Amino acid sequence: MCGIVGYIGPRNVKDVVVGGLAKLEYRGYDSAGVAALADGNIRIVKAVGRLSNLEEKLAEMPISGHIAIGHTRWATHGKPSDENAHPHQDCSGRFAIVHNGIVENYLSLREELMALGHEFRSETDTEVVAHLIEEMYNGDLFETMIAVGKRIRGAYALVVMAKDHPDEIVAIRRASPMIIGLGEKENFVASDIPAILEYTRDIYVMEDGEMAVLRRDGVECFTMDGEPVKKEVYHVTWDAVSAERGGYPHFMLKEIHEQPRAVRDTLRGRVSDDLSRVELPELGLQDEDIRAIDRIHIVACGTSWHAGLVGKAAIEAFARIPVNVEIASEYRYSDPIVTDNTLVIAITQSGETADTLAAMREMKKRGVRVVAITNVVGSSAAREADSTIITWAGPEIAVASTKAYTTQLVALYLLAVRFGLSRGTLAEEKAREVLAALDNLPQVVEQVLDTAPQIESFAKRYKDAHDTFFIGRGIDYAVSLEGALKLKEISYIHAEAYAAGELKHGTLALITDGVPVIALAMQPELYEKTLSNIVEVKARGAFVLGLTWVGNEDLEKTVDEVIYLPKTMPLLAPVAAVIPLQLLAYYAAVARGNDVDKPRNLAKSVTVE
Ligand code: G6P
Repeated sequence: MCGIVGYIGPRNVKDVVVGGLAKLEYRGYDSAGVAALADGNIRIVKAVGRLSNLEEKLAEMPISGHIAIGHTRWATHGKPSDENAHPHQDCSGRFAIVHNGIVENYLSLREELMALGHEFRSETDTEVVAHLIEEMYNGDLFETMIAVGKRIRGAYALVVMAKDHPDEIVAIRRASPMIIGLGEKENFVASDIPAILEYTRDIYVMEDGEMAVLRRDGVECFTMDGEPVKKEVYHVTWDAVSAERGGYPHFMLKEIHEQPRAVRDTLRGRVSDDLSRVELPELGLQDEDIRAIDRIHIVACGTSWHAGLVGKAAIEAFARIPVNVEIASEYRYSDPIVTDNTLVIAITQSGETADTLAAMREMKKRGVRVVAITNVVGSSAAREADSTIITWAGPEIAVASTKAYTTQLVALYLLAVRFGLSRGTLAEEKAREVLAALDNLPQVVEQVLDTAPQIESFAKRYKDAHDTFFIGRGIDYAVSLEGALKLKEISYIHAEAYAAGELKHGTLALITDGVPVIALAMQPELYEKTLSNIVEVKARGAFVLGLTWVGNEDLEKTVDEVIYLPKTMPLLAPVAAVIPLQLLAYYAAVARGNDVDKPRNLAKSVTVE
């Protein structure tokens, strides 16, 4: 994620840039920095930790000038540290840049630049861009940036200033968001609107593949080839508070809607272009290591544990390795049976959950290899695991986890395919089919989000329910568990998830007239069996909302209402099926007047046992 702010104009640059960064802290907050140009020199101040650390440093080392750029970081390449914080500079200190995104070809560029004598000070992908600018600089910053843009691959928003260009800032956007704020004799550039709303409501939204040159008296926009682009001014009418949430009333809704992007980012660079291989070098495991694994223990808490249940199904199906999915707080005290060839996969969005960390440590003590799947680079889980797979969901602010779950599923699918290919248990043709389906998931998620109005209407009608049941078979049951948890944690409606075939062994006694039942029927192979269980609850008077794939109109004959979801490979269906359940919890909580983003009694990251 990361947040960027750039300013050119007569105001106190520190106030504008640091004030803007404070509005962007939701995009990342592990370190921050500013660069300002005064008296012909670029001065940089950076600090690891929250923005307040930077402010303390700035009190002792003030910056001035009329042009500055700043950054609040969500670490991707390189741990959170002063050195890795942005802005980054070239060898000579003539240029300073801030960056949001990932330069995918940074390793080859780094080698190339090092061979040319450039000296690197950080572990970041961003620093290569500073050196590349230095290498390619032809006296014209704008032209240089056109040339640099052609050399870097990936997703990025870049803002650059140069010692020899005291009257301009150049910004480039490819995939990562960026807006420009238009003022009187001053202009702004930022990752998001809240950063500049205090100063102007007139903005240009930079489109993918656009560049801009900001001067005090105007802003010009161009394509990445330098062709001028005429932009429409967009006038912001939102208030500052809702702008921070991108116009959404709650972070949770924003994060639900970010899922197509989050899934895309988690897949980015990890599936070969011909959809035949999974690229996970960070795993640090060779084919023979993967072939040697004799069992896997997935360890996690809460939503991450639910992701693990789906991961088990995928790994067992593709790699034929037996998988146990364990609740971390239980696992650590259960004296688990492990062998020399056991692999532990710890899943944790925050990377700081005490129980999960304790389980990891216990296993490491026993010499077991631990892979972490986490959303936070530099977190304890990422630092302590033998290897780490990052989910690129970006900071998740709402307590109820949404985009972290879907990206954890993506990471687990990638692992399952990688393991299956290494072990020869997944035919190459089948792997291609899975990888093509994975590649298509962002579009699937976009389409699922269109069901929001239907879910909202259902949630408003059922907001006063006392009990709700979620049923499904196989991985539909795993998703049901997540749906029930979401509903409980933010709407406070009691919810229970049941393996559909198990209902008749007791829970069916609780189904009476009008009790809402959410029935997941996303698995064609289990459809008829699930349908029989749905008929059982209907016969006891339940009001059934069914979820099934587009084209399966048969379900309408049995249930009261159907939500149709785009068809995808059944094993991947949880990514689609969970989204209506997230929306259901959200709209029910809103209808009940609850504090959606901060539910009672709960915390985002539980760092106590
Ligand atoms: C807390 C959060 C949950 C989360 C769980 C595990 O209970 O409220 O949303 O699933 O912790 O968190 P982790 O960061 O380890 O995934």
